[in-house]
Amino acid sequence: MTHKEFLPSVYTKPVTDGKVTYKAPSNIALVKYWGKKSNQIPANPSISFTLDACATTTTISYSRVEEKGNDFSFELLFEGKPKPDFRPKIEAFFNRVEDYLPFLKEYHLKIETSNSFPHSSGIASSASGMSALALGLMHIEKQLDPDIKADFFIQKASFLARLGSGSACRSIEGDLVQWGSHKGIPGSSDLYAIKYPFEVHGVFHEYQDTILLVDKGQKQVSSTVGHNLMHGHPYAEQRFDQAHENIEKLNEIFKEGNLNAFIHIVESEALTLHAMMMTSMPYFILMKPNTLKIIKKIWSFRASSNTHLCFTLDAGANVHVLYPKGEKEKVQQFIKDELVAYCENGQYICDKLGFGAKRLLP
Ligand code: DP6
Repeated sequence: MTHKEFLPSVYTKPVTDGKVTYKAPSNIALVKYWGKKSNQIPANPSISFTLDACATTTTISYSRVEEKGNDFSFELLFEGKPKPDFRPKIEAFFNRVEDYLPFLKEYHLKIETSNSFPHSSGIASSASGMSALALGLMHIEKQLDPDIKADFFIQKASFLARLGSGSACRSIEGDLVQWGSHKGIPGSSDLYAIKYPFEVHGVFHEYQDTILLVDKGQKQVSSTVGHNLMHGHPYAEQRFDQAHENIEKLNEIFKEGNLNAFIHIVESEALTLHAMMMTSMPYFILMKPNTLKIIKKIWSFRASSNTHLCFTLDAGANVHVLYPKGEKEKVQQFIKDELVAYCENGQYICDKLGFGAKRLLP
């Protein structure tokens, strides 16, 4: 598939107005996407767990304008209030996707969006936000061209979401999702994400993710800046090769249910992501002292309790604690007793694997 296949042919149905709502989840990468080429093409493949509770709900009300203007006509409400600082990101997104959604300037869009998690939690809402927006826009396109098939709808939604934020393309489906061309994964593509195509051992079903909110502040460095620092990074090529190898290893691990091997890959990926940040020029550290304290506690609890919890990190200080459902009681007790003290205002979110975005009916 090339990007040209996402350019629509002539729309067949006139549509004057309508309204659509999608709820799309966040996701947490196990093998991380860090580094990109032009047009949001990832420098390496990645794989993620789709989450369930952390989600964005977006309603788009669309009405045809009398005359197609030169600009995009839209209003943006975040949790019921206008949000001018989100506008540039949406405008940049519309510019990137306009060729693929040529109806955009023919409609006025009222976009109302809200998150299930607190905005100031340090959890990036770009993955769930761009995924919900892309799905809403695909719904409008399907009104204009009712022949669009369900598979293509999902694929193009992921393609569009990617153009908004790379990791967003992994937030359309669940529960295990892969993005980026990989020789061992048939159907994998740099252009969109796919549902993980192989058998997965039962121990990975309903895997749990407790997100410890260590630092709820605004990120010091945006992901886009971080990705760009992989250009000319001294360890870039080795890192990209490692991501390919880790996905290959995970294929075996997912089949066999080898939790110890899973833990090693996931934690190494998280630390490698941060190592890339620490060794770029300029260099930066996004972990906080409490991030490291939590990691050490996790390691000692794991060694002494015969459980299989492990951590992963995003481009920030918060810690995702991953563990099998069968160990939920033991691990959640440990989190309450020993880790919550390291969270800002004691805040954390209990989440688990989810099955992808949903259209909400009025
Ligand atoms: C560390 O998807 O936020 O979370 O494409 O520039 O919007 P842009 O970046 P973004 O990068 C996410 C990076 C990561 C790892 C991952 O989710 O794979």
